[in-house]
Amino acid sequence: MDDLKAKYLGQIAEAADENALETIRVSAVGKKGEVSLKMRELGKMTPDERQVAGPALNALKDEINSALAAKKAGLADAALDARLRTEWLDVTLPTRATRQGTLHPVSQVTEEVTAIFAEMGFAVAEGPRIETDWHNFDALNIPGHHPARAEMDTFYMHRAEGDNRPPHVLRTHTSPVQIRSMEQAGAPLRVICPGGVYRADYDQTHTPMFHQVEGLAIDKNISMANLKWVLEEFVKAFFEVDDVELRFRASHFPFTEPSAEVDIRCSWEGGTLKVGEGDDWLEILGSGMVHPKVLEAGNIDSNEWQGFAFGMGIDRIAMLKYGIPDLRAFFDSDLRWLRHYGFSALDVPTLHGGLSR
Ligand code: DAH
Repeated sequence: MDDLKAKYLGQIAEAADENALETIRVSAVGKKGEVSLKMRELGKMTPDERQVAGPALNALKDEINSALAAKKAGLADAALDARLRTEWLDVTLPTRATRQGTLHPVSQVTEEVTAIFAEMGFAVAEGPRIETDWHNFDALNIPGHHPARAEMDTFYMHRAEGDNRPPHVLRTHTSPVQIRSMEQAGAPLRVICPGGVYRADYDQTHTPMFHQVEGLAIDKNISMANLKWVLEEFVKAFFEVDDVELRFRASHFPFTEPSAEVDIRCSWEGGTLKVGEGDDWLEILGSGMVHPKVLEAGNIDSNEWQGFAFGMGIDRIAMLKYGIPDLRAFFDSDLRWLRHYGFSALDVPTLHGGLSR
């Protein structure tokens, strides 16, 4: 027994890894291991012999098992130490001097818009970019024959031959998120819905994918006056000016009644845009009172509730605010452009800390 003890404790001490340890365990205390076989011989012994050999064998087995456990823990510690040595990080090193990446102007402006509307109690809602034909059009009071469908240059998703289900589209605006928000949260409601939209169009001011932000406020006593105040507050905060004049022009959208397009007073003196002064007007968004049919499509009782909505182009207001001349460059991923027009990722826009700095 002393020989067995010396042999196995020696082997355990030498074991290089967990696999070696397991082999030793099997050959010592496994079902057919040497110690286990010795224990089976107890039956053949005289009672006197057994009284000596039994406890001694059990003690040996215990000793081998605890040596195995201790060695296993030791190996695990050593492995962890080795790993920590290779993964160390010098946190006292200075950061790289040159800025590596920047926030895209679209991300920056989305954050700015979100910060401003959050302050006025609007939550952010999102919807899918691959949208049902119904949410994108019908629910917004744009039936199948409506000219707005053709005007929007819609991308339709491919359908397998014989598939007669209603088609899906790449959403042409963020307005379907109005419907989804009403379906999900009901009234009262106050949300903005920023996100990517798609239209088959390409020139200096149009790209097949661009970004919009939708606004929707539903309550019992909401009017165009509330819309006007909210938009004025937004424009002042966004363009970082003390005062701004808005012009509401009567317009038409299928999903609002009445509808208005909103212009801001500006000047283009010297080729740069100044908001809030001058003799020019710049169109920045579409808006209106939510059409009763749209409320009903969102399962909201239009006898009880009413609301306003607006939609504007994020890329467009980014171009205006930051003087970016060509929309197509937004999506070129040209590093020189991104370094020039990008924003520091650590300057989170807030109303109190400054929007754009
Ligand atoms: N969905 C419109 C578009 O893409 C923009 C719009 C106009 C949204 C008026 C609105 C609205 O919510 O009330 O051209």
